[in-house]
Amino acid sequence: MTAQLIDGKTIAGQIREEVRKEAERLFQEKQVRVKLTVILVGSNPASQVYVKNKRIACEKTNILSEIIQMEESVTEARLLDQLKTLNEDGSVHGILVQLPLPSHIDENKVILSISPCKDVDGFHPVNVGNLLIGRPFFKPCTPAGIVELLRRYHLSPAGKNVVIIGRSNIVGKPLAALLMQKGDFADATVTVCHSRTKGLEEHALRADILIAAIGSAGFVKGNMIREGAVVIDVGMNRIPDPSTPSGSRLCGDVAYEEALNKASWITPVPGGVGPMTIAMLLKNTLLAAGIGFSRP
Ligand code: GUN
Repeated sequence: MTAQLIDGKTIAGQIREEVRKEAERLFQEKQVRVKLTVILVGSNPASQVYVKNKRIACEKTNILSEIIQMEESVTEARLLDQLKTLNEDGSVHGILVQLPLPSHIDENKVILSISPCKDVDGFHPVNVGNLLIGRPFFKPCTPAGIVELLRRYHLSPAGKNVVIIGRSNIVGKPLAALLMQKGDFADATVTVCHSRTKGLEEHALRADILIAAIGSAGFVKGNMIREGAVVIDVGMNRIPDPSTPSGSRLCGDVAYEEALNKASWITPVPGGVGPMTIAMLLKNTLLAAGIGFSRP
């Protein structure tokens, strides 16, 4: 079997176009200019690229973006003060603090200080809790992007065995919650595997839909994939490659060439899940602008 590609780049483009039209409508009908503010602390090269990509995506979709760059040495108190100002600023609809933060800043404290009504990452415990009890509002962007990919390719997870490898707060845990809940493009039987799982291969081999989100290049080999499974690769690992101009390339968590011969559908890296994360961030920002201050 040769797997067919799940083209996240194209789907993300379609979603951006939907967001652009809706943002324009909000402006025409309600004179609301949708705005996202991103805080970037320090100069982590990967974070700089991610933040730049978010800014470009906003520019393409009629969403105002503001990037607040803070020094690596900024105090936690100063960052929390900045968040208080943004929470109270009616012109700002979405707030995102790019992670990771320097070690002297408590990430949990920062997430708690973002108004749940502006938490477009969906990381605030109020939004995480709402997701877990089946009334999601801001869904974390990468899990929401994965569900949206399944939806647009008509690959329903209902009643299927979904195996997620990885238990992070950003991907594994919220994705499990989204897929196990009652409802459309959910209703799956979900297994979450992680670094301490015994017999991980046996679990993986039972997956109708296998999702790799562990941050280890090429971790999922061909012999861990059931014939005909749908494979979703969340990995974004930069590995050395002397044959490229930069000397490195992006590599997923799945051994791609091996997986091609086993899977029915597969997301490539790059061009699979990655572009969907930003597309869903734009959607959440639109949602934040639509609700004003009433929910969650
Ligand atoms: N760093 C890596 N992924 C993310 C994300 O989805 N949101 C934020 N805020 N930081 C990240």
